Amino acid sequence: MGVLEGNWLGYATRPSPGLYPHQWSWDAAFVAIGYSHYAQERAEAELRSLFSGQWSNGLLPHIVFTDDHADYFPGPDFWQTERNPYAPRRPRTSGIVQPPVHATAALAIYRHARDRDRAHRFLEEILPRLAAWHWYLRRERIRNDDHLVEIWHPWESGMDNSPLWDEALNRLLPEQVRDWVRADLNHAKPEERPSDDEYDRYVQLVKLFREHNYHPELICRVTPFAIADVLYNSLWVQANTDLAEICRIVGADPTSFERWADETKAGMRRRLWDEELSTFVDFDLITKEPICTRVGAAYAPLYAGVPTRRQADAMVDQLTRTVGVQLDSTTWMVPSFDPRDGRFRPTNYWRGPIWINVNWILYRGLKRYGFDRLAETLRRSMIELPRRSGFFEHYDPRSGKGQGASQFAWTAALVLDLLFEP
Ligand code: SER
Repeated sequence: MGVLEGNWLGYATRPSPGLYPHQWSWDAAFVAIGYSHYAQERAEAELRSLFSGQWSNGLLPHIVFTDDHADYFPGPDFWQTERNPYAPRRPRTSGIVQPPVHATAALAIYRHARDRDRAHRFLEEILPRLAAWHWYLRRERIRNDDHLVEIWHPWESGMDNSPLWDEALNRLLPEQVRDWVRADLNHAKPEERPSDDEYDRYVQLVKLFREHNYHPELICRVTPFAIADVLYNSLWVQANTDLAEICRIVGADPTSFERWADETKAGMRRRLWDEELSTFVDFDLITKEPICTRVGAAYAPLYAGVPTRRQADAMVDQLTRTVGVQLDSTTWMVPSFDPRDGRFRPTNYWRGPIWINVNWILYRGLKRYGFDRLAETLRRSMIELPRRSGFFEHYDPRSGKGQGASQFAWTAALVLDLLFEP
């Protein structure tokens, strides 16, 4: 609770002091889940603040800027989202999205509420905004018969420098002139952050989207980066299931969201299942090739009930034999990337370290399919690691040492969720 208190800005929660001074989209959802157990009003405020940055076409931006002059790159003057008529003038925002965990967070607020009437009113208030967000993804980001949502930027995945994107990013040329300066290295060690080469590509994509004034109907034709990501689509399936439940609670029609969950679930089984790796893999929509890279997030479909029983058994068997790591006799966790792969880097952001949010998603998946013992080991490990090392952004899978930003909000929020959960 102290970590969340320290990051609370009076109306929203920054992910951490220093490195992340604004409000981020999926961070806000995880943080709201943490607050939902002991501070209902604050959980509501967190989502309300994020949705104050929603565009009138439904896009929920990945950053809502809290301070135009904070030491962060790219800031609002670089994004220039005011070029798009749907973007709000205030607050200023980025022009891309992040994974849709928001309906899941809103439902958690209702389920954990001390004041149910108030929570019911909150669901009524937030439902049109959640629906507009899901309609945006459905309308602008699904253009294939498999009903898979596509992302157009590594930042949209939330897993910025995951090896998943290496090939796609290598198709972009490095910047000729760097007319911008990174701010993240003022607050973090270079070996724990994406490289300059990666930033070059991230910024190029932003410039491309900016040139097209953030119009999705233009971007979808020109983007060199378009990927159907397993984690994103798993969260989308579950968020639709949760949004349908919200509709039932407030007496609205749930059928569209139920259908969208079923359609993407079927599409994932059809298009993303890899029999040889015994897991789901991302799909590059530009080259029309699967991305056969084993990452921790590949097991997220368990969370959304996507795999068949046979697939789930094969996945968990693989998970325990490959990506999962035993830190000591009692601590077992899932790093962001396969430790046996030559590109594994235990301290480098999404190329190896353990992240609590992905483990929390996998924990829910393991429980959903009845892997109770493994789920319980993971639950205890997720509580134990921050207890020993502090509430860090990510952890070294060899030693459990905390890395990246300290006082990291979603690590604290999701540990609270595990401690409070019935
Ligand atoms: N995660 C990115 C960052 O490091 C942006 O979303 O700033």
